[in-house]
Amino acid sequence: MKTIGVIGAGQMGAGIAQVSAAAGYRVLLSDVDLARAEGGKAGIAKQLDRQVTKEKITADVRDTTLANIEPVGDVAAMGACDLVIEAATEREEIKRKIFDTVGKGMRSDAILASNTSSIPITRLAQASPDPARFMGVHFFNPVPVMGLIELIRGLATSDATVQAVEAFGRTLGKEIVHANDAPGFIVNRVLMPMLNEACFALGEGVATIRDIDTAITLGLNHPMGPFTLADFIGLDTCLEITRVLFEGTGDPKFRPAPLLVKYVEAGWYGRKTGRGFYDYTGPEPVPTR
Ligand code: 3HC
Repeated sequence: MKTIGVIGAGQMGAGIAQVSAAAGYRVLLSDVDLARAEGGKAGIAKQLDRQVTKEKITADVRDTTLANIEPVGDVAAMGACDLVIEAATEREEIKRKIFDTVGKGMRSDAILASNTSSIPITRLAQASPDPARFMGVHFFNPVPVMGLIELIRGLATSDATVQAVEAFGRTLGKEIVHANDAPGFIVNRVLMPMLNEACFALGEGVATIRDIDTAITLGLNHPMGPFTLADFIGLDTCLEITRVLFEGTGDPKFRPAPLLVKYVEAGWYGRKTGRGFYDYTGPEPVPTR
């Protein structure tokens, strides 16, 4: 593989573009328009500048990485790609539309993969040009820091597709795990019930936000407590994945905590809106309960 297409220049897409470019691939980075794609590249430049300042990489490495990334305003440009990774908004109808457009221009041997965190791969594959050359490739946030990629094969995904994407993932320096196309795959199947349970515990008055976060951080040696992590991921995303687990399994143990639902209804999505379980508008995050 030489050329990678990344659709979506938000946090995940930009991270995927960054690590791919750093590994030497030519990357076409697209978003709804060229300005957003360029904005994604500007964000990557900032991350790389920070690494240069910390002396983690040289200015040369930063420049080569950036030179490998070409922002494009139209997914039609993806015809040159060996692998296209979709990291757009987590809404099925949006992804289906993208697959329809990008699929028309892709080479007949190119692979299309989705970074979806929750939508069934077998179902999404139906909107792709060829379900045998479609699969899930799930990165973790922040992509440059997290060492894992989950690969998810749909019912029709071919062995050759899985092998090619696995080989690509390893060249990024990531560890690969394989998951079946079951709700939440591996990581979110285990993570979301923990975050959801923290919301139940808070709602039932077991402890405060700060004490639950401190307990999990120091008691389990996690880098972030559940509320800090949920705010980091986005409470809307956490609720969406929890609903997928609940509906996909039919098991009441996955029912969303009422407090999580309330926060999302209030528009308190976490860091991205300035308020979630913490308020981020001041110099330090302040717990809201
Ligand atoms: N992009 C690039 N690099 C970043 C970064 C970002 N957004 N945020 C932090 N980093 C780098 C820093 O530059 C630093 O690098 P260095 O060690 O080379 O100097 C390193 O990460 C550590 O950062 P900090 O010292 O600023 O902060 P922390 O030590 O607190 O680490 C953290 C920050 C890496 C985010 C850490 O708290 C962590 O690992 N948290 C858990 C994250 C997690 O669980 N992510 C998975 C979420 S689930 C998911 O993505 C799946 C989805 O489907 C929901």
